[in-house]
Amino acid sequence: NKGKYEHYMQKEIHEQPDSLTTTMRGRLIRGGSCKAKSVLLGGLKDHLKTIRRSRRIVFIGCGTSYNAALAARPILEELSGIPVTLEIASDLLDRQGPIYREDTTVFVSQSGETADTLQALEYALENGALCVGITNTVGSAIARTTHCGVHINAGCEIGVASTKAYTSQIVVMAMLALAIGDDTISSQTRREAIIDGLFDLPSKLKEVLKLDEEMKDLARLLIAEQSLLVFGRGYNYATALEGALKVKEVALMHSEGILAGEMKHGPLALVDETLPIVVVATRDACFSKQQSVIHQLHARKGRLIVMCTKGDAASVCVGGSCRVIEVPQVEDCLQPVINIVPLQLLAYHLTVLRGHNVDQPRNLAKSVTTQ
Ligand code: UD1
Ligand code: F6R
Repeated sequence: NKGKYEHYMQKEIHEQPDSLTTTMRGRLIRGGSCKAKSVLLGGLKDHLKTIRRSRRIVFIGCGTSYNAALAARPILEELSGIPVTLEIASDLLDRQGPIYREDTTVFVSQSGETADTLQALEYALENGALCVGITNTVGSAIARTTHCGVHINAGCEIGVASTKAYTSQIVVMAMLALAIGDDTISSQTRREAIIDGLFDLPSKLKEVLKLDEEMKDLARLLIAEQSLLVFGRGYNYATALEGALKVKEVALMHSEGILAGEMKHGPLALVDETLPIVVVATRDACFSKQQSVIHQLHARKGRLIVMCTKGDAASVCVGGSCRVIEVPQVEDCLQPVINIVPLQLLAYHLTVLRGHNVDQPRNLAKSVTTQ
């Protein structure tokens, strides 16, 4: 049932304030006079000790689910102090990469049925690793086969392009980071800021959805383009990859997410006055580096669309020559949850304007159960 919406993808994008609320329901503890704010993941509570003792945490997934793990890696590393690596399921299998008994492997999958991810899970089980699932589908193959896990509870996702599952996956992984990390005094302020940020996230998501019309205007401007580059780094490298994936898979437009730190090592050669480029430059520890990237792209007459924190337009837009997307600020590690939304909206409107099938892009299936 699409309700008042024309497409499932549109409905699922706009549903995100609610899907995030259900993802967090019963799992965040507000704290009180003598109780600290904390996180409770029922499915993991008996396994946290083992996870904390592991030598390495390996996230495994495909497509959007992989991107969600990429978005959460920095906060997992920061709060757990354990090395975190990422694997695209098919690539791990192609290489038969090393997985050890001392590893915690985390399988991220909306459907819980993706063939590559499921096969990588069987491989990790054979190698004796602890296998944790992060899935949206209760009773799915991955939920049943993992030792333990967390349901993201985002509600059924029907559009082939994953939207609300992505934001809920990031939120679950941020909660996982809080659950694994110890509550030493030194990390207490940071942890509380993240928990407060999680409580605020649904209302900030409502706010960013107000960019809908603005993104439709931007889509009109980009309708006939052949290609769109998206630059990001740090917490928002994932935003670049995931934004480009959305544009590619539904709008059928070539799009590439680029790690801004790699700009000078090749991608800069593509820049001219015609190719549109989105630069994600919201406030975090990488902000000044992104400002310098914008300067360099501007010096090569790049056609820039800059995503920045509300109120920062003047400090990111050199000479007032670029288009700006202003988004609400949240705690840095949660910012990818907000920043992906304008790009989801852009991909959606581009698809409708270009006359393509939104909910079932050609050649794609919601659940990839064959290899
Ligand atoms: C569970 C209940 C929820 C109830 C809550 C109240 C289910 C599905 N969930 O939620 O309805 O409101 O208790 O306390 O009945 N699991 C895996 N792999 C996965 C995902 C989950 O093995 O990929 C396992 C978990 O380890 C856990 C079980 O499935 O044993 C349920 O997980 P989850 O729904 O996340 O647990 P709760 O949030 O505690
Ligand atoms: C992109 C998309 C795919 C899936 C991928 C993994 O919008 O939907 O890239 O993310 O096929 O699917 P799950 O998460 O079901 O394992």
